[in-house]
Amino acid sequence: MSIYSLIRPLVFRLDAERAHRATVNLLKLRTGTAFPPEPPDTPELASRVAGLRFPNPVGLAAGFDKDAEVPAQMLSLGFGFVEVGTVTPRPQHGNPKPRLFRLVEDRAVINRMGFNNHGHLAALEWLRQSRHLGGIIGANVGANKESADRIADYVAGVRRMSSAADYITVNISSPNTPGLRGLQDEGALDELLAAVAEARADAPIFLKVAPDLGEADPERIVRAAIDHKIDALIVSNTTISRPPLRSSYANESGGLSGAPLKTLALDALRRFRRASGGEIPLIGVGGIASADDAWERIRAGASLVQLYTAMVYEGPGVARRIAKGLTARLAREGLANIADLVGTE
Ligand SMILES: Cc1cc2nc3c(=O)[nH]c(=O)nc-3n(C[C@H](O)[C@H](O)[C@H](O)COP(=O)(O)O)c2cc1C
Repeated sequence: MSIYSLIRPLVFRLDAERAHRATVNLLKLRTGTAFPPEPPDTPELASRVAGLRFPNPVGLAAGFDKDAEVPAQMLSLGFGFVEVGTVTPRPQHGNPKPRLFRLVEDRAVINRMGFNNHGHLAALEWLRQSRHLGGIIGANVGANKESADRIADYVAGVRRMSSAADYITVNISSPNTPGLRGLQDEGALDELLAAVAEARADAPIFLKVAPDLGEADPERIVRAAIDHKIDALIVSNTTISRPPLRSSYANESGGLSGAPLKTLALDALRRFRRASGGEIPLIGVGGIASADDAWERIRAGASLVQLYTAMVYEGPGVARRIAKGLTARLAREGLANIADLVGTE
């Protein structure tokens, strides 16, 4: 039994957004000598994706550390990489509260945060202060709700954040900024990716997509991504669909994440793998909570995985547990490196 399972009832007595804020504040106290040493580097879990060396394939998904306050602390918990953001050019409050709901019976979360963040400059400042522990820090960028030129917001994100992050994620899949997902549509996507390609510096660019896609979308998105030299696709963001749920919060509007997203995100990943035939690396995210979930996602074509909601239910040790589980299973199945597993289903 983990320590977290003992304190979880206390955490869950707090409103979800307060619990999140308290957690980030606690993590901020873990600085300097309080850090455990670098995450143990298990060579069999290390791999190269998009030219970067990832010490293990389990990443923290965007949205937990929106302002890049605690990336080093999250790396020290055993994540192989941490994606901060979404950050927008200008600070914004996001949607009115309440906007974050725990669906405990479903091991899920619904959020309609709406890109609350302190803006690019604040995130840059935090990133410069954070201690780098040998993992990878990515910056996820978006557009301000009231922006007159959303493409310009992404271009600004790529330009500014490339100096402080190992990779940049272009997030066009959050359901909580009206019209944002429209950037995944044919003409808009092409225009956006052309502008991003022109603005890019050395940092690789990842594109994060929604799980709610039409029949022909994966092929079209893969083609546009390859044409514009995007380095990887992150599949996927939260869903606006509602699979059967038990919680009384089931009908709150926003994006659903956690266990009920798992099948949908896995299915979307398989479709992107089929459409790409391995030509562009994929990062699997959505409902991953165990080493078996990560294993399944990697076999389905993910070079890396990310999680967020599982941390709410399983606690901060979840990344380390998954990494350990993957190492054990590699040994059991006689594989030398996690990269040998990618797309083998
Ligand atoms: C509270 C919350 C806030 C999120 N904020 C962002 C965000 O700002 N940008 C983004 O790209 N994804 C965001 N996400 C989506 C996650 O990065 C991830 O794609 C999704 O939750 C599915 O993974 P999970 O089931 O492991 O949580 C957020 C998710 C949650 C639960």
